[in-house]
Amino acid sequence: MTLDTRSKAEVVNIVLAKYQNDSSMLVGILQDIQAELNYLPREALEMTAEVLSIPLSRVYSVATFFKAFSLKPRGRHGIHVCMGTACHVRGAEKVLDRFQTELCACAGETTPDMKFTLETVNCVGACALGPVVVVDGEYEGQVTAEKVKSIIEGCK
Ligand code: FES
Repeated sequence: MTLDTRSKAEVVNIVLAKYQNDSSMLVGILQDIQAELNYLPREALEMTAEVLSIPLSRVYSVATFFKAFSLKPRGRHGIHVCMGTACHVRGAEKVLDRFQTELCACAGETTPDMKFTLETVNCVGACALGPVVVVDGEYEGQVTAEKVKSIIEGCK
């Protein structure tokens, strides 16, 4: 069975079984569910709370505390434009503007075709390479507005 054919409930059950329904592992459980489903659907959070016998509010508080978690569906490709100080002074604003124009999506949004989610981050620890853009976990350094289109086209 592929991930595409797995239901949300099946994914949650598999992840919870992996963690032996241990509520102290809630962060890891949510990370794994998101890794499988690409976001944390409401049904998955409800099911997690029920199976772990913990309040749904606790699950939501963890899911909303960490920026890495998303309660909305994300695009297949994640583009994170660093807006930290070092990147900002080297032109990150222009890079972000170009991504927003090319994708017709603002930072924090996902394109209607679900292909891209554009987000900003504050320093990814590679300041010397700035402006930095992280595409699907891969760092691109010294990004200029002119390079944006080819970065997008490089995402299959
Ligand atoms: S400010 Fe962008 S990597 Fe540090």
